[in-house]
Amino acid sequence: MDLKDRHVVVTGAAGGIGSALARRFHAAGARLVLADQRSPESVAAELPGAVALAVDLSTEAGNIELIDTAESHFGTVDLFFANAGVAIGTDPMDDEEVWDLSFAINTHAHRWAARRLLPAWLDRGEGYFCSTASAAGLLAQIGSAPYSLTKHAAVAFAEWMSITYGARGLKVSCLCPQGVNTAMLNSDSPIGTGGDVVRSVGEVLEPSDVAEVVHQAINDERFLILPHPEVGDYLKFKGSDPQKWITGMQRLQRRTLGY
Ligand SMILES: NC(=O)c1ccc[n+]([C@@H]2O[C@H](COP(=O)([O-])OP(=O)(O)OC[C@H]3O[C@@H](n4cnc5c(N)ncnc54)[C@H](O)[C@@H]3O)[C@@H](O)[C@H]2O)c1
Repeated sequence: MDLKDRHVVVTGAAGGIGSALARRFHAAGARLVLADQRSPESVAAELPGAVALAVDLSTEAGNIELIDTAESHFGTVDLFFANAGVAIGTDPMDDEEVWDLSFAINTHAHRWAARRLLPAWLDRGEGYFCSTASAAGLLAQIGSAPYSLTKHAAVAFAEWMSITYGARGLKVSCLCPQGVNTAMLNSDSPIGTGGDVVRSVGEVLEPSDVAEVVHQAINDERFLILPHPEVGDYLKFKGSDPQKWITGMQRLQRRTLGY
C-alpha cells in the first residue's frame, strides 16, 4: 500500500517504535492519528496535520474511542497499526493483574480494534491491519512467560486475519523485531533485564531503522516483517529441530539469567 494521503492510525506512538513509525509514515504522506496512554502530543506537534489522542487501549472501549475519533477526523481508516505493548511479568506465579494487562494490550487490543474496523473494511474490500508482536512471538522470551504467550497470540491473530480475510481484500502485516533501542529495552522490564539476552543474540536496532523496514514491507504488502533477518534463520532452525532448539534456549537462559 502506498501511504500517500492514506488514513493511518498508530498506537503506542508517544515514543519508541511507534513514534518512529509515525515519522516515517508522515514522510510518506499519510494522514495520521497517534494514540498512546501517555499523551503523544509532542510527537504529533512535529508532524503537521497529525492528530494526537491520549487513551488507554487495554479496554475495548478505549479502542472504540480511538477509531471513532480517527474516523471523525479523516473518515475510514486505511491502515491500523496496533503497536502499543507492555513487557511485564516473569512466570506463572505472577499476579492475575500482570497476566490480564499483558493479554489486554498485547493481544486483545488487536482483536478489539479488528472487531470495530472489519465490517467497513470487508464492505469496501480494502483495509490494512498491522501489528507489532515480537521475535518472542515466533521463538520465546527468556525470563517472561506473559510476554512470550501474549506475543505468540498476537502473531497467531495476525496470521488468522490474513488467512481468513485475505481473499476479501484485507492486507495484514506482523512486525517481529528482536532488540530495538527504546524505553522498553532500556528499562528493568523483562525484556529490559533480558536486554543482555537480546544483545547476545543480535544487533540492537534504532527505532528509525525498524520504521524504514516496516515502510518498505507495507509498500510490498508483506506479511512477516523481520527487521533482524537472523530471526528467520532461528525460526527455520526451531522448525527443523525443536529438541535441539529447546536445549540451546535452556543453555542461553542459564548463561544470561543464571538459572
Ligand atoms: N524494544 C524492543 O526491543 C522490542 C522488541 C520486540 C517487540 N517490541 C514491541 O514493540 C512495541 C513498541 O514498544 P517499544 O519498544 O517502542 O517500547 P515503548 O515502551 O517505547 O513503547 C510502548 C508504548 O505503548 C504504550 N502503551 C502501553 N500500554 C498502553 C495502553 N494500555 N494504552 C495505550 N498505550 C499503551 C506505552 O505508553 C508506550 O508509549 C511493543 O508492542 C513491544 O512489545 C519491542
